[in-house]
Amino acid sequence: MSYGSFELTYTAAPDRYTKIPYRRTGKSGLDLPAFSFGLWQKFGTDYPFETQREIILHAFDLGITHFDNADRYGPPHRAAQKNFGKVLAKDLAPYRDEIILSTKAGNPIGPSPYLSGGSRKSLLASLDHSLRDLGTDYVDIFYSHRQDDSTPLEETVGALVSAVQQGKALYVGISNYRPDRAHQAAELLREAGVPLLIHQPRYSIFDRSIEQNGLLELAEQDGFGLIVYSPLAQGLLTNKYLESIPEGARATNSTFLSPDAITETYRRRAAELNKLAESRGQSLAQLALQWVLRQPAVTSALVGASSTWQLDHNLKALEFPPLTDDELAVIEEHGVHGTGLNL
Ligand SMILES: NC(=O)c1ccc[n+]([C@@H]2O[C@H](COP(=O)([O-])OP(=O)(O)OC[C@H]3O[C@@H](n4cnc5c(N)ncnc54)[C@H](OP(=O)(O)O)[C@@H]3O)[C@@H](O)[C@H]2O)c1
Repeated sequence: MSYGSFELTYTAAPDRYTKIPYRRTGKSGLDLPAFSFGLWQKFGTDYPFETQREIILHAFDLGITHFDNADRYGPPHRAAQKNFGKVLAKDLAPYRDEIILSTKAGNPIGPSPYLSGGSRKSLLASLDHSLRDLGTDYVDIFYSHRQDDSTPLEETVGALVSAVQQGKALYVGISNYRPDRAHQAAELLREAGVPLLIHQPRYSIFDRSIEQNGLLELAEQDGFGLIVYSPLAQGLLTNKYLESIPEGARATNSTFLSPDAITETYRRRAAELNKLAESRGQSLAQLALQWVLRQPAVTSALVGASSTWQLDHNLKALEFPPLTDDELAVIEEHGVHGTGLNL
């Protein structure tokens, strides 16, 4: 089959919508897959493009319709969007209507004052650049990537509203905002007629911030969804670091996960959680993913993967019975907030 000037070699799996559930995002009309896929790590120039393409297409074949990106993802910055853009042009173009593509702006990507922060200039210039890199006319979700207290919230929100009004984004989101600012943003967006679709915080057995700071309740109250990132704590909530640090694992090649995170305390807690997972006939990764998805306020778990095997394995999390109160109590005991994280 050909599409535009490309000869297509990929055809999506016909049964792709039978594999994972889709969950409603807050009070919007948009459904997202229970698992969304992020291109933060290993989608830059440091990992083979053919492997990246294989993982992206495999994810789509598994029913993962949502791909999360940002101007910052690489290395270098912007590379992950360029690589996704290549796959979109060559393989996924006929399926663009079936894909929820997100991008973010506002985390620093260079020394210029316009390549960072929540100003109108920074957000809208980044969005235009991302659209060129992705090779698409619009993204489905445009995010303010981080709270910027040095910029009036009205300006940041105004830029998000403009993105929608200009037809460059269908929905808007915020990421890493504290609940008080998230609530203000939701109010301002509601007044502007562009409701806040979603908030993207970090959440895992080892990062309980959103349980402690009220964001889970706020999401339900304000009607936005939550898409939680790093639900495996970047791999710490798998069995890969229990004995050693394997060659090629993130703790060996990313500035975002130091081998120093693999302490004896971490290993002791992860081993206990692993024991619990094994007693349920599942892996620690599957337990950790099931655990974040048990929250009704969580629309989607935003995962990464460096192989198709990891995706297949992790999606099986959906096949196990719900966690019992006794099992949740064991997780409370060993899933100590801050473990392995630089908090
Ligand atoms: N908004 C923000 O500020 C922000 C910040 C961070 C992330 N995010 C988003 O969240 C997405 C996911 O973050 P994340 O990659 O940290 O999520 P994660 O799901 O916690 O970690 C994924 C990593 O764990 C390892 N892994 C996955 N499954 C495994 C398995 N079964 N066994 C062993 N290892 C396994 C892989 O790393 P290796 O194989 O390489 O070790 C994989 O890349 C990002 O891509 C991005 O879209 C957003």
